Parts: sequence; structure tokens; C-alpha cells
Amino acid sequence: MPPQKNIEDLTCEEAAAELARLATLIRHHDILYFERASPEIDDASYDALVRRNRDIEAQFPDLRREDSPTLRVGAPPASGFKKVKHTRPMLSLDNAFNAQDISDFLKRVQRFLQRGEVDLAVLAEPKIDGLSAALHYQGGELVLAATRGDGLTGEDITHSIRTIADIPHKLLGDDIPEKLEVRGEVYMSAQDFFKLNERRQAEGGPPFANPRNAAAGSVRQLDAQVTATRPLHFFAYACETNIAKTQQEIIHRLKQWGFAVCDEIALCTSEAEMLAFYANLGAKRASLDFDIDGVVYKINDLALQRRLGAVGRAPRHSIAYKFPAE
Ligand code: IVH
Repeated sequence: MPPQKNIEDLTCEEAAAELARLATLIRHHDILYFERASPEIDDASYDALVRRNRDIEAQFPDLRREDSPTLRVGAPPASGFKKVKHTRPMLSLDNAFNAQDISDFLKRVQRFLQRGEVDLAVLAEPKIDGLSAALHYQGGELVLAATRGDGLTGEDITHSIRTIADIPHKLLGDDIPEKLEVRGEVYMSAQDFFKLNERRQAEGGPPFANPRNAAAGSVRQLDAQVTATRPLHFFAYACETNIAKTQQEIIHRLKQWGFAVCDEIALCTSEAEMLAFYANLGAKRASLDFDIDGVVYKINDLALQRRLGAVGRAPRHSIAYKFPAE
């Protein structure tokens, strides 16, 4: 790649040409990642492309393209699966790469809410490195499950999802809404991933590049009998139905109803606590049963989350603080 010019030094023509190039390039990598589960570049290089695109758009807002990568998430559904239109878009998260980005996030939130310097409660959760899924329940029964797809329309993976033991087919409890949508991450543990790859290679098949691709490839099988042989797990981390006032309460209720949730979470009330959570989790990263690629911070109060809303493809109320690539 030619050396990149500083964004401030770009002419309008150069900025437009680069945004066009980035739209095509990011689209190409999205297809490899989301549809084929076989990326060509690592997450850090992908993030750098997305960041460059975002920064150029910030400097030249009039040049934002209709097909801008900031306006969509992932890849459109592949053929072979029924399509599922999401009730609400499945968004992506903005990334933070250092403490300053976290500080900026908090300032942005406070400015938007006009809260001055009041400390906001933020729930810190591990960012599970898998693929997101939306699960629909009716009368407590699992009736539909979908991938994120392009964020607006996903693929029907109900048949595969039913093979995952962490996902209840029937919810337990007496206060379960008639219609319920739970979102979370399907993932594979590193240990199971290595075993699966050994098995595949012994059978003459190509190995998966990493646990996330193995999980994605396993869920996006048309034959659920194949998925059933794959060691998949699920953590629930969000609910689109109004069941609580805070993110912490959502996690608590989902756990009560029989979902697997990640226990490595903490309510933080200062930037220092948020950074300490990141450092502690980073130190534990290698010993966890699941792959994580960062921390997700979410404004705990859901009424504030609603007020904050979203900009482009990411909500204003949450941010992912990425760990350095392993
Ligand atoms: S909250 C607005 N919580 O990270 C969508 N996402 O880059 C945020 N992820 O698509 C959903 N762990 O697949 C949330 N504890 C967590 C998560 C998490 C992993 C994934 C999810 C999402 C992606 C955003």
C-alpha cells in the first residue's frame, strides 16, 4: 500500500477517491469475514481501514457515500438460508483503542445528555469473539433465530441454534413476556477449536483460521446434524424487549430464565474503574474458557441509552475497548 497522506493534507478529489477505494475494500473484507468465514486480514488491519474511512468522512462530511461502510454492518445474507428482517437493526460498536478514547466517549455521552461532570454508571462486559445472534421466543418457546447479516436482514439459523445446549428451548419463570427477543454471541472455546481442527485435518478437511470462524462456519450450516457435532456455546448479553430498567438487570433476568450469561462483568462508576476492569480482564484473558477481543462498556441506565440513540451503524451508549491483537 502507498504511504498514507495525513487526512488534513488530502484534497477533495483525493478524499473522494480514497473513500471510494475504502468502500470497495471494506466491503470485500466484510464478505470474506461474514459470508465465507475466512478473512484475509487480521482484525487490527480491518479496524485501521474502518477508522481511516471514518476519519476522512469526519473531515469531509459532504463526501460520505451512499454505500459508506459507516452506514452498514457486515454482509448481506448468503443464499440457501431464509431471510429474517430484524425487529430493530443489529448494530455494531464504535471501537476505543486507548484510555483517551474512553475518556472521549464519556465526555461525548455527558455532553449529549447535558449531565456536566456527573459520574454515570457503566456496565463493563467482556467482548466475546464470536458471532451475534437474535433469538425470538413466543410464549416462552424458542421460535426463531437469526444471524446479524447486514444488520437489517439476517439468515434464519433456527435449526442450528437449537443444537446449542446453552440456549434454552423453553424458558423457565412466571414473568416471561409473551414475545421476547434476546441477543447474544455464539462462540467456540479455544480448546474445543483446536480439537475440532485436529479432527478436520485428520479427515482431510481445511482447518478453520480461529475460533470465531469455526463458530461462524458451524452455525451457518444448512444441515443441523453437522452443527450438532460442533462444540458451540452462547452468552446472552442484550434484550430487545422491555424487561428491565438497567443493563445489569437484563443480564440478571436472562440468567434467571435459563440463559448462559458471562459472569465476568462489573458496574463501574468512574473512568478509573472502567480502566481497572480492562486491565484485570486483559490479565485474565488467556485463562478464560472463551475468546475475548476487548471490553464492551454500556451506559447502565436503559432510559439514558434510549435518549442517546445511535449514529450511523453504532449506538452512542456503548463502546468496545479493544485488546491489542494476540
Ligand atoms: S452489545 C450495538 N455486548 O460485538 C451492538 N456486543 O462490534 C452491541 N459482542 O455485534 C451489542 N460481546 O457481536 C455486545 N458483551 C457484548 C458483546 C458484544 C461481543 C459483539 C457483537 C456485536 C459486536 C460489535
